[in-house]
Amino acid sequence: MRIHSSFVALCSFQATFAVASTAWPWQTFKSSPHEPPSLKVSKSGPVSPGYLFFDQSWDAHQYSVFIMSDNNELVWQSPPGDLKGFRVQQLDGNPVLTYFNGLGVPEPFGWGYGIIQVLDQSYSSIHNVSVINDNYTALGSINSSSFVSWIDMHENTMTSEGTMLVTGYNVTQCDLSSVGGPKDGWIADSLFYEIDVKTNDILYRWSAKDHLDQIPLEDVQPFYPVDDWGHNSSAPYGYFHINSVEKFQDGSYLISSRYYCSLFKIAKNGSVDWTLQGQTGGDFELKGIQWAYQHDGRIHHEQEDGFVLSIFDNANSDVSNGTHHTEGMLIHVNLATREASSLQTLHDPKDEIYAVSQGNTQLLPGGHAVMGYGSNPKIKEYSSNGTCVMTAQFGEDGVVASYRAYRSPWVGIPTTSPDLFACSDESNNKTQVFMSWNGATEHKKWKIFGGNTRGNLHPVSIVRKTGFETTASVVGGLKYVRVEADGFGIEKGVSKVVSVKEMC
Ligand SMILES: *[C@@H]1O[C@H](CO)[C@@H](O)[C@H](O)[C@H]1NC(C)=O
Ligand SMILES: *[C@@H]1O[C@H](CO)[C@@H](O)[C@H](O)[C@H]1NC(C)=O
Ligand SMILES: *[C@@H]1O[C@H](CO)[C@@H](O)[C@H](O)[C@H]1NC(C)=O
Ligand SMILES: *[C@@H]1O[C@H](CO)[C@@H](O)[C@H](O)[C@H]1NC(C)=O
Ligand SMILES: *[C@@H]1O[C@H](CO)[C@@H](O)[C@H](O)[C@H]1NC(C)=O
Ligand SMILES: *[C@@H]1O[C@H](CO)[C@@H](O)[C@H](O)[C@H]1NC(C)=O
Ligand SMILES: *[C@@H]1O[C@H](CO)[C@@H](O)[C@H](O)[C@H]1NC(C)=O
Ligand SMILES: *[C@@H]1O[C@H](CO)[C@@H](O)[C@H](O)[C@H]1NC(C)=O
Ligand SMILES: *[C@@H]1O[C@H](CO)[C@@H](O)[C@H](O)[C@H]1NC(C)=O
Repeated sequence: MRIHSSFVALCSFQATFAVASTAWPWQTFKSSPHEPPSLKVSKSGPVSPGYLFFDQSWDAHQYSVFIMSDNNELVWQSPPGDLKGFRVQQLDGNPVLTYFNGLGVPEPFGWGYGIIQVLDQSYSSIHNVSVINDNYTALGSINSSSFVSWIDMHENTMTSEGTMLVTGYNVTQCDLSSVGGPKDGWIADSLFYEIDVKTNDILYRWSAKDHLDQIPLEDVQPFYPVDDWGHNSSAPYGYFHINSVEKFQDGSYLISSRYYCSLFKIAKNGSVDWTLQGQTGGDFELKGIQWAYQHDGRIHHEQEDGFVLSIFDNANSDVSNGTHHTEGMLIHVNLATREASSLQTLHDPKDEIYAVSQGNTQLLPGGHAVMGYGSNPKIKEYSSNGTCVMTAQFGEDGVVASYRAYRSPWVGIPTTSPDLFACSDESNNKTQVFMSWNGATEHKKWKIFGGNTRGNLHPVSIVRKTGFETTASVVGGLKYVRVEADGFGIEKGVSKVVSVKEMC
C-alpha cells in the first residue's frame, strides 16, 4: 500500500509540475491528508530502539515535523507550519514533544521568530514558551506583526528544573569600525534565555553585544566577514550566530557561536569563563583536532575536571567547498590541563556528507549516535565503534533541509479519533476500508463495523494494523462504516461513521 501510495504521489506530481527531477517522493493516504516524505532507508547493523523525529524545510513538499519508523511508516505528522528542532524531552518526569513554531528568516540571515511548543503524549498543546515583551527590533524587512514571540528556532533545550534554554536575535546598532564596517552600523545581536516553561518568566538573559569586551568583533572567523553588511537594519551583520545553549551543573551555560567557531562557558554573572575555539583552541590546547562553524554543542559525563563535548562540525562551507566532510565529534575537554582531545569522530566513509548549514549530533543511551545533516536531508545512526549502521534520506542535498533529527522511544496516545475512508468495489462485491490514527503507537488491530443504515452497524471484520494506514477489503456492499482501533492497555479509538463512497 505504502509503495503504491508514494508511487501514485510521484506520478501525480510529475503530471502536475514539469520540474519533477528535484521532487523527492512522498506518501499519500486515503484516510488522512498527511503527506510525509518517503524515506529511503538502508541498514547494515542493529539500530537503537525508537522512532525518527525530524523537521523538513526549504523546497520540502510539506513544511511540518514528523515521527516516522525505520520502515518508512508515518507515526505522527503535525499540522503544517515552519517548525524546527523537533524532539522528545522530559518535563516533570513525563515525556513531551518540543519544537519551534514561527517564522524562519531564510539565509543569508538564518534565524527565526516564534514560540516553542510543548505537547504531551496525547499531542495536546500544554505550554507555549515565548518571549513577548522584551523590547526587540526585527530585521528591517520583516513586519513584526507577522509573528507572536521573539524566540529564535536554534534552541529549545529543557532542563531538569522545568526551564527551557532558548535563543533570540535582536537587530540593534553597533560600532563596526574595528572590523571595517560603519561606525553607526547594525548587527543581529545573539541572546539566550532561561525561561520557566509554565509561567514564561525570564529567569536569565544574556546578550553577546553586552560582552564585546570579552568576545570582540575582530575574533569572528573568515567565513562571514562584514563586507557590505551592517549599513542598515535590513542587512545587519549577524556576526555571532548563536546556535545552541546547554547548562552546566554549577548553573553556568555552554553556548555555541557559528561564526566565532567557538564554544563559550558563560558564568552566571554573564562573563565569559573560557573560550574553546575550533581553530586555535582559545583558552585550550587542541590535541590534533579542529572544527569550524559547528552546531549543537552538548555536555555529557560532567565531572569536576572536565566533560565530554559533542558537536556537529560544519567545517565545510561555501568558502571551503567539498574539502571538509561533516563529522560528529566527541571531544574530551580537560578543564585541569586545558586540553581538548578527540574521543570519537562520526562520519560515513561510504557516503561522506558536506553539509553547509544546520545539523546535530545526538548521543543515545546505548552508545549509539544519531546525526541529522541539516542542508543535506539525511539521518545517520552510528554504532558505538563509529560504524554507520543506518541512513535514512528524505530529499535531495541542498533542496530539502532539516534543522535537527533525533531518534527516541515514544508512546503516543492521541485524543483525536481515528480517520476513515471507505469506498465501494462494486464489480467484486467488496467494500474497501482505509484506516489511520495520527500519532497512535499502541493499537494493534482494527475492528470494522458496517451496514446499510447509519444507526445499525454490525461487526464485519477484524484486521491487524499494518502501518500508518491499514487497508481492508470487506466482502459485500456496505453503505456505512465505522472502525475501532484496539490495543493492549489503551482506550480504544472510535472513528465517526462515514458513508461509503460509490467509487474507489
Ligand atoms: C500554543 O500555540 C498554538 C499555535 O498558535 C495554539 O494552537 C495552542 O493552543 C497554544 N497552546 C497553549 C497551551 O497556549
Ligand atoms: C527599547 O528599544 C528602543 C530602541 O529600539 C530604545 O530606544 C529604548 O530605550 C528601549 N527601551 C528599553 C526599556 O530598553
Ligand atoms: C504589518 O502587518 C500588520 C498586520 O498584518 C498590518 O496591519 C500592518 O499594516 C503591517 N505594517 C507594515 C508596515 O506593513
Ligand atoms: C534590542 O535592541 C534595542 C536597541 O536597538 C535595545 O534597546 C533592546 O534592549 C534590545 N533588546 C534586547 C532583548 O536585548
Ligand atoms: C541595506 O544594505 C544592503 C547592503 O548594503 C543594501 O543592498 C540594501 O539595499 C539596503 N537596504 C535598505 C533598505 O537601505
Ligand atoms: C563573574 O564570575 C566569575 C566566576 O564564575 C568570576 O571569575 C568573575 O570575576 C565574575 N565577574 C564579575 C564582573 O563579577
Ligand atoms: C559550494 O557548493 C554549493 C553547493 O553546491 C554552491 O552553491 C556554492 O556556490 C559553492 N561555493 C563555492 C565557493 O564554490
Ligand atoms: C563495529 O560495529 C558494527 C556494528 O555494530 C560491526 O558490524 C563491526 O564489525 C564493528 N567493527 C569493528 C571494527 O569492531
Ligand atoms: C455480495 O456479498 C454479500 C456478502 O457476502 C452477499 O450476501 C451478496 O449476495 C453478494 N452480492 C452479489 C451481487 O454477489
